Amino acid sequence: MTEFLEGYPFAIQWFPGHMTKAKRLMENQLKMVDVVVEILDARVPCSSANPLLKKLIGNKPKIVALNKIDMADPECTARWLAALREKNYTAIEVDCQRGKGIKTLLAAMRQAGQPVIDKWLKKGVRNHPVRVMVVGIPNVGKSTLINRILGRNKTATQNKPGVTRNTQWVEIGKNLELLDTPGVLWPKFESAEVGFNLAVTGAVKEDVFDRETAAAILLLRLKRMYPQQLSAYYGIEVAADDTARQLEEKIGRARGALKAGGEVNYPKTVDLFLRDFKYGKLGPMTLEEP
Ligand code: G4P
Repeated sequence: MTEFLEGYPFAIQWFPGHMTKAKRLMENQLKMVDVVVEILDARVPCSSANPLLKKLIGNKPKIVALNKIDMADPECTARWLAALREKNYTAIEVDCQRGKGIKTLLAAMRQAGQPVIDKWLKKGVRNHPVRVMVVGIPNVGKSTLINRILGRNKTATQNKPGVTRNTQWVEIGKNLELLDTPGVLWPKFESAEVGFNLAVTGAVKEDVFDRETAAAILLLRLKRMYPQQLSAYYGIEVAADDTARQLEEKIGRARGALKAGGEVNYPKTVDLFLRDFKYGKLGPMTLEEP
């Protein structure tokens, strides 16, 4: 779907085939689970959610984990948490890279699983484990969270021959078990807006959208939403009537992304700007309001 964002046509090349396969896989995995933790990117909590998940999990309790809060605008994160809680979601903020909020998340899992434990108790079964699964679209931090909880590093998650990876439950406390592989949800592309948000935060691969267009749109957004941060990070003047090209010119010069003749190297500037944003170098920023 092509739409104009900030005056630029933007579209994601997306094939629904990916979705069908992911959906089938997710349905099977969810059958084994009591509590679901959906990870969202705190910079784009709406765009990084999967609206069909609700249908797939039915009445199972769900916890929303807003991840990457280190890169999100804290004031916006507070408002997102309040908005989610108002809708009766259990919402927790986490920074999986640094381990912030993990204890609170674990306590929430335990609490969400209590009705399951009670149900088994009524049937006379004591200590029946509550099974938890982490789900989310690509790159929101699912593996980082699982590794954090299990206290292991990245290399330990690699496949071991002969082990069926998707049925590995690991005890993470009394009566609590975690599936050690995450459920991968497909990103939703209901609009170019959502696609754009997922593109610049790194949830979709770079070959499915036009980077120069994405950078131009993002520059115009940040000029409006976070002009001071943009100016401070690159050490440039940001004027309200600057075009995307003018901002690229300033950034390119400030960062020395120049061609042999001293002209700005625009593709290189686009690359470094998109990378800076994706990794939160420009400071904490949130693209979506609750
Ligand atoms: P996934 O399983 O959901 O696909 O995501 P994964 O854990 O692999 O995390 C994706 C990237 O996000 C990783 O960066 C990871 O370090 C980073 N990340 C996860 N949680 C946080 C967080 O709370 N804050 C920050 N700042 N980053 C976080 P990466 O290895 O550099 O991957 P890439 O971005 O180069 O693909």
